[in-house]
Amino acid sequence: MIRLENVSYAIESRELVSGVSLRVGAGEFAALAGENGAGKTTLLKLVMGLIKPTGGDILVGGASTRGLRVSVMARTVGYLFQNPDRQLFGATVRQELAFGLDFLGVAKDEADRRVGETLDLLKLDPDRAPTSLSRGERQRVALASLFVRRPRILLLDEPTTGLDYRECVQMMETVSRLNREDGVTVLMVTHDMEVALDFAPRMLALSGGKLLADGPTRGLMRDEALLKRASLVPAQMVALARRLGIAPGEADDALSLAAWVERRAGVNAKGGMPDAGRP
Ligand SMILES: Nc1ncnc2c1ncn2[C@@H]1O[C@H](COP(=O)(O)OP(=O)(O)OP(=O)(O)O)[C@@H](O)[C@H]1O
Ligand SMILES: [Mg+2]
Repeated sequence: MIRLENVSYAIESRELVSGVSLRVGAGEFAALAGENGAGKTTLLKLVMGLIKPTGGDILVGGASTRGLRVSVMARTVGYLFQNPDRQLFGATVRQELAFGLDFLGVAKDEADRRVGETLDLLKLDPDRAPTSLSRGERQRVALASLFVRRPRILLLDEPTTGLDYRECVQMMETVSRLNREDGVTVLMVTHDMEVALDFAPRMLALSGGKLLADGPTRGLMRDEALLKRASLVPAQMVALARRLGIAPGEADDALSLAAWVERRAGVNAKGGMPDAGRP
């Protein structure tokens, strides 16, 4: 579905992306992580065809982005900018959503239906002006304006930055549902390893424009040397497990961690550890 073959992108002889090869299959959910300036946004823009590679090739749905117009790409690919305000133009939320469908030539009845569905899905008030909304709400409107077009691929650049915990969960659950139920392919830039661990089974780590690692998120999250090289802060869960001395695979989620702690506490109580069993 998305294929990068030895892709490079240089500006004035500086390579922002160097020799990246990877494939993201239809229906996959992959996180793209890496330090500030690693080239994550540049890579996403390359996939969307907003910029063209200076070396190698990128195929989306079998076609090279070199020959694809962004307006054509926008029929199947939804791109969420790192800053949502870059993509909000409508006077009201309803207009914002309808705008993209009008652009694609979707008939009015169908457009009204989709806008209604999306407003419900993301719990948005259609009559508010996007400019009057909070950052988190604007982020949701920007995402809604993608959903309404029923993309087959979502390219999300830090979709949870600036959201509070509830908004973050809501946003990620919506994206996750689209991925699970409708098979939408998701490539998501994130600094939040917690989000990557919870939602993206696969992680791509970028550093200095190069692909450092590509594999199961859980596995990569345990690779301390890699996390250091890619300046990634491990998810709390993983860090906690490490501090408690839990072996990889012994307790990878909150429930099994709780069970592990309970088991240990039980063992310690019987074994008469310092505070156990004292009045
Ligand atoms: N148009 C441009 N001209 C020159 N340099 C650029 C341009 N766009 C990006 N860069 C540089 O390329 C590097 C990669 O930028 P990019 O925005 O892709 O990083 P990023 O991984 O998305 O970082 P962040 O986590 O801060 O969003 C940075 O050093 C950036 O300054
Ligand atoms: Mg970026």
